[in-house]
Amino acid sequence: MRLFVALPLPDEVRAGLARWVKSCGAQPGLRWTPVEQLHFTLHFLGEVADDRVAEITAALGGVEAATFPVAFERIETLGRGVLAAAAQPAPPFAALAESVRSRLRQFTAESAQSDRAFHPHVTLARARHGATIPKASALPALPALKFTATCFRLYRSELRREGAVHTVAGEWKLG
Ligand code: 2AM
Repeated sequence: MRLFVALPLPDEVRAGLARWVKSCGAQPGLRWTPVEQLHFTLHFLGEVADDRVAEITAALGGVEAATFPVAFERIETLGRGVLAAAAQPAPPFAALAESVRSRLRQFTAESAQSDRAFHPHVTLARARHGATIPKASALPALPALKFTATCFRLYRSELRREGAVHTVAGEWKLG
């Protein structure tokens, strides 16, 4: 199964991002992320054999991290195809991602292994095939949005023709 670990967003933050999306008006070149799916990816595992899930769950249970504040900073484009809301790269956020990544390295599909530095962002939209994403400077500014991160989750992602479906496979409290 396809798995990833992420920080979920509180309802009011997702609602704030949804209001920002609405303020962008019609963007025919973009495929918006469904509001209920908005999250910060901490680590992408890729395709993992079903019988490894118990070990992955046990490894995540060993992550020790306190709650921490998350503040969105700006809208940005990543590569040519992703429009994202970036958060301040606060040390506790990066430390949580690094702790998850190091514990899950051995379970991560080869194709998903990465040494890239953690870049906290919420993917808001992807470019439709053949379309280009507008420049962040051409879109409305992101309002101030903050919350306290209190848990992280293991998600399963099923790729369907109509888009990905994410289901929660585990949740761990911070603090
Ligand atoms: P994103 O946070 O940049 O959008 C579920 O698909 C999540 O896993 C997405 O949020 C996505 O990243 C991340 N993801 C999907 N494929 C990936 C890959 N090949 N490498 C790293 N992250 C990936």
